[in-house]
Amino acid sequence: MGFKTKALSDQIALVTGGGTGIGRAFSEGLAAAGARVVIASRRDEVLRNTAEELNKQCGAERVFTYAFDIRDQSQIDSLIKEVVGKWRSVDLLINNSGLAVPETAGEITEDGWDKVMETNLRGVMQLVRAALPYMIENDFGDIVNVSSQAGKHGYADVPSYCASKFGLLGYAEALRDHVRKTGANIRVFNFCPGLVDVANSQPDQVPREGSIHVRNMARTLIYALGLDRNVVLEDINLYSR
Ligand SMILES: NC(=O)c1ccc[n+]([C@@H]2O[C@H](COP(=O)([O-])OP(=O)(O)OC[C@H]3O[C@@H](n4cnc5c(N)ncnc54)[C@H](OP(=O)(O)O)[C@@H]3O)[C@@H](O)[C@H]2O)c1
Repeated sequence: MGFKTKALSDQIALVTGGGTGIGRAFSEGLAAAGARVVIASRRDEVLRNTAEELNKQCGAERVFTYAFDIRDQSQIDSLIKEVVGKWRSVDLLINNSGLAVPETAGEITEDGWDKVMETNLRGVMQLVRAALPYMIENDFGDIVNVSSQAGKHGYADVPSYCASKFGLLGYAEALRDHVRKTGANIRVFNFCPGLVDVANSQPDQVPREGSIHVRNMARTLIYALGLDRNVVLEDINLYSR
């Protein structure tokens, strides 16, 4: 039996951290492909400016904003309620919000550790848990996690960040096993990028030495999503050669 398919132009995407950097590039690519995209993070003004610019770029209202803090469970629930209430589905969830607190193993604080773990890992688990029932009900969904090369290798300056990004890959593997066992039409992708230059993001700008231009993230996303429903590109490792 074939899996249900849905054109990107019929999909509702939710991109956390979609106002800036990699999340913004993902949102730009998705909106250009005709998806409706909800960008969600803490800073309302940043989100609104991005939505305005991207909507102007596509000449249509495709990007919408929602201010929330992924560290707060009740705000996660309200976000999913709002998206599903308005559009009846969450077809694509991109877990992109994330941050690092640079403290070495000798310096690490409880506050720094909690901030990183709650943002990069616990929030993702809660957001997926909230969105999953709707993906199952609609028999369609894709979940994209933005881990890092720091989810594959340890770096002395950011041990909590590395732990969170390794943890995200472990969580994603368990999630993939869960959707496989339940037979749900849901794919789980992970991005593990090296350095992505989010400061020089204009089309004509050249990325810093050792970094890649952020447009490569968006291109790879659209390519991965376009694969057949029974195909999953599990971990997408991309970095500057
Ligand atoms: N750039 C790189 O070289 C690179 C490499 C590997 C992986 N990554 C990963 O890629 C993702 C995006 O990073 P980026 O480089 O594009 O940097 P960025 O522009 O700083 O993006 C991080 C996003 O996370 C959001 N965020 C942070 N705390 C949040 C919270 N409590 N609740 C909701 N949203 C929150 C921020 O928005 P608000 O401040 O508005 O909340 C921001 O939009 C991150 O997960 C990062 O770890 C980046």
